[in-house]
Amino acid sequence: MTLSIRWKVALGMLLGVTLGLAVAGWVLIRSFERLEIARITETLDARSRLVSFSLEPLLAPSLPSTPEQTKALQARVLDLSRHAQARITVIGRDGRVLAESTAPGETVPLLESHATRPEVTQALETGRGTDIRLSKTTGQRMLYLALPLSETGSPPTAVVRLAVPLTELETRLGDVQRDLFLAFGLAFLISALVSALLTKGLTQPLTDMAAMARRFAEGALDQRIRTATRDEVGVLADTLNQMADQLDAKIREVSDERAQLLAILTSMVEGVMVLDVKGRVLLLNPALERMFALRDAEARSRPYWEVVRHHELNELVTRVLETRQQLGGEITLAPSGRTLRIEASPAGGQRENEACAVLVFHDVTALRRLEKVRKDFVANVSHELRTPLTSIKGYVEALLDGAKDHPTDAVRFLEIILKQADRLNLILDDLLQLSQIESGEVLFKREPVRLRDLVDRTLASLKPLADKKGHSLTAAVPAELPPLMGDEDRLAQVLSNLVDNAVKYTPERGTITISARHLPPTPGGPADGTLELIVADTGVGIPEPDRPRVFERFYRADKARSRELGGTGLGLAIVKHIVESHGGRVWVEGNQPVGSRFIVRLPVAQKTIPSGLS
Ligand SMILES: Nc1ncnc2c1ncn2[C@@H]1O[C@H](COP(=O)(O)OP(=O)(O)O)[C@@H](O)[C@H]1O
Ligand SMILES: [Mg+2]
Repeated sequence: MTLSIRWKVALGMLLGVTLGLAVAGWVLIRSFERLEIARITETLDARSRLVSFSLEPLLAPSLPSTPEQTKALQARVLDLSRHAQARITVIGRDGRVLAESTAPGETVPLLESHATRPEVTQALETGRGTDIRLSKTTGQRMLYLALPLSETGSPPTAVVRLAVPLTELETRLGDVQRDLFLAFGLAFLISALVSALLTKGLTQPLTDMAAMARRFAEGALDQRIRTATRDEVGVLADTLNQMADQLDAKIREVSDERAQLLAILTSMVEGVMVLDVKGRVLLLNPALERMFALRDAEARSRPYWEVVRHHELNELVTRVLETRQQLGGEITLAPSGRTLRIEASPAGGQRENEACAVLVFHDVTALRRLEKVRKDFVANVSHELRTPLTSIKGYVEALLDGAKDHPTDAVRFLEIILKQADRLNLILDDLLQLSQIESGEVLFKREPVRLRDLVDRTLASLKPLADKKGHSLTAAVPAELPPLMGDEDRLAQVLSNLVDNAVKYTPERGTITISARHLPPTPGGPADGTLELIVADTGVGIPEPDRPRVFERFYRADKARSRELGGTGLGLAIVKHIVESHGGRVWVEGNQPVGSRFIVRLPVAQKTIPSGLS
């Protein structure tokens, strides 16, 4: 367990105070004791001199030698001891005890020698000896004072020793100690209280600051430390607050930037993938996820080769990571056939988890398809134009070579030339029309068109053609159909192209039927429903795989037959464009049991015509 600053300071102060008090108490008690002993010694000194004086006749010039003299000395000592209120011992120069106030007379000679007692030796040497110790005889702490006894001018014959117990001193000392203890206890309590208050005042700002710093570290940067002090603590608080301000600003800045970056990445059409130096995915955007059908969660921080399995891409990325140069490439995705253009650029990162390479994926599938269509178209046009031209050139050469001189040949050749020239004209007309519709140069009129009128008109013009092949050409169009909104001439072109095809691609004596009906509105479809127009024949039909493609320019299901029948291969392309420009759809199905069914669906004119349309 670690102590808080507050407790460290408080306990330190208390320890200091306690030590100081202990030392002071010790010194005080010692000096008190010293003084007391000095006082007791002084009075004992006076008494000792008096006792010495009164014993002198019995001990000088010679020590008692008869038992009577010894007895008298013992009696005298007992008497003096009573008066002086002290224990009195008379010791011979040699240490023998001559009299002792606390021992019965007969045991005195048996007492051990006192020669080595410190006060005795001191008295014999210096003329006065004192000592404080536990008495072996009484078991109390005693103060001893010894004076040598001698006749003036002669060496001492004996030593008179007085002893008083220090019990009184000890009781007084105990009293003083108790008082001191009480006083010091009080002082300790006061200092404990004071130090607790003082350290609280000192350390509270620090504690607050520590708590707030912890909050900062946890990310709660909206609060600030409040202090009124201007000392180091105040400076520290200000610094911490400033740090929090800056941190807050920086974090805001970073997260704003991140949000912007994320918004950009999310809204981008291009796929973006960022890799670190080891080729791990750091980031990828929704467009890329869509391109490769990934989920961000499963892709992040995995190696890119696990995320996108593509051999050429792997090679490209490996080269960028190795060479640190901008590289580009194009890959085709296997199942979807989509073409992606990749721009791989190195980024500054040198370590793991740092952006090291940025890959941008553009989906160029549509572009490439368009390019292919354009190329095919040019090739097709050239081919289509060359065929009649070659034929014209051939017959002109034949004429020049001499056929002109054979009238029958000449006429036949010239007729062929005319036919081929017409064909060229037809192709160019169709091409021109197609390009005009495609480029949006021709503006379609928007007027109500009655389907029944349209069908009648077309039938009238194509009837002779159908009759020529013995076809039965019938129409079943209810009169009460709602009108369409569009360009009547263009819609007539759609119908006549379809019927023309039906007539052409149906062997003699076929049946061609035109029917129409109104389909009710569906959710998400035109508000007033759709008109469906069907041209069905009993002709050669179109093989299933060719059906979607017959609407492409120059695409023919049966090239030889089409050319022989004078087709350009552009009719259905024009149909498709016109129908789609009217917001409709056209497709072909097989007819039962033989032949084809071309279905056109066009939206019904809305009853409330939006303004701005003529
Ligand atoms: N009613 C039909 N029956 C069979 N095949 C058809 C029919 N209509 C169109 N096709 C096929 O679709 C191709 C494209 O038609 P289209 O664009 O009108 O060109 P074209 O009539 O000049 O050959 C035709 O060459 C033909 O193979
Ligand atoms: Mg045609």
